[in-house]
Amino acid sequence: MITRVLKPDEAALSEAAALIREGLLVGLPTETVYGLGANALNPDAVRAIFEAKGRPGDNPLIVHIADRAALAPLIRTEPSPAALALMDAFWPGPLTLIFPRSEKVPLRTTGGLDTVAVRMPSHPVARRLIELSGLPIAAPSGNRSGRPSPTTANHMLEDMSGRIPLIIDGGDCEVGVESTVVDMSGDVPRILRPGGVTQEMIRAVCGDCIVDPAVMRPLGENEQARSPGMKYRHYAPAGQLTIFRGESAAVAAEICATYDQALADGRRPLILALEENLHLYGQRTLESLGSSAQDMAHVVFAVLRDADHLCADVILSEGVETEGIGLAVMNRLGRAAAFHIVEVE
Ligand code: TXA
Ligand code: MG
Repeated sequence: MITRVLKPDEAALSEAAALIREGLLVGLPTETVYGLGANALNPDAVRAIFEAKGRPGDNPLIVHIADRAALAPLIRTEPSPAALALMDAFWPGPLTLIFPRSEKVPLRTTGGLDTVAVRMPSHPVARRLIELSGLPIAAPSGNRSGRPSPTTANHMLEDMSGRIPLIIDGGDCEVGVESTVVDMSGDVPRILRPGGVTQEMIRAVCGDCIVDPAVMRPLGENEQARSPGMKYRHYAPAGQLTIFRGESAAVAAEICATYDQALADGRRPLILALEENLHLYGQRTLESLGSSAQDMAHVVFAVLRDADHLCADVILSEGVETEGIGLAVMNRLGRAAAFHIVEVE
């Protein structure tokens, strides 16, 4: 199969919508990352998503809708007042809410769970495609399972070339990390995956919001994952990534020493650092993470892909404070590093 990449004009979107209605897969831009979309209500179409990604069948998909009316048929009970308040505040946008699943949503879509994750993206191309197809679209991130999520059409082509008929190229994704996934089944909203809508933003609407402890550490041996995605290795470049946290000069000194040792051992080290710290690393091989947590969110997956293109086998990254969107950045970097995080004194 040849994978075509088309600009998002009306003709391309009509063609994409027709493919979705036929049960085929389409790569589509969203404001967070590129998604691999298919008809969420068609179990065979959804099965094809899992096959194209190489994704374990128990890891559920997010269902994307373009208007509020499309929510009711997907869920079993009325949304709670807190869920309604979050939808009012953050839809359309990078927020995914988990609801009890209606019979209409195939178990294949929800990885066998009795809940369904729903989000209303703000990206105009994603919205138009959902409208034209007239269907809810199931879309995981468009990477091969375990790889960094795609934030450009080219990233998606790297992973999906020959596996899907069409990718719609909507340019660079604005947010750069995936949506915030929130479990609304308890008294207090619980973040299962941090993203563009932060804990602080949810608190401002709901009064309280907790972050699941498994967000910033590996699952324990017998621990049950509240979100199946927590179980799997994620976002990983081919090289071994380590994150260093602490005061900038001390972190830079530690990274430089580790880098020099790796080089002496015949390895190919690469440093990931904030723009304002680049000068601390002299002539060593570097990539910039930008100058804020927001910038880091925007570039983190592209930088991890670059590390592979450079054949780096030892990747040494600065960390960031886990406030605001910094929590999402550290969650992605942490998982990519299998939580190999060094606290520098
Ligand atoms: O920004 C995004 O959310 C992107 C774009 C394409 O919309 N999509 C995305 O999907 O990141 P995916 O499949 O890569 O990640 C979905 C995450 C997984 O960690 C999955 O385990 C969790 O959401 N999830 C989905 N349904 C769930 C459910 N019913 N209960 C708990 N976790 C769920
Ligand atoms: Mg993903």
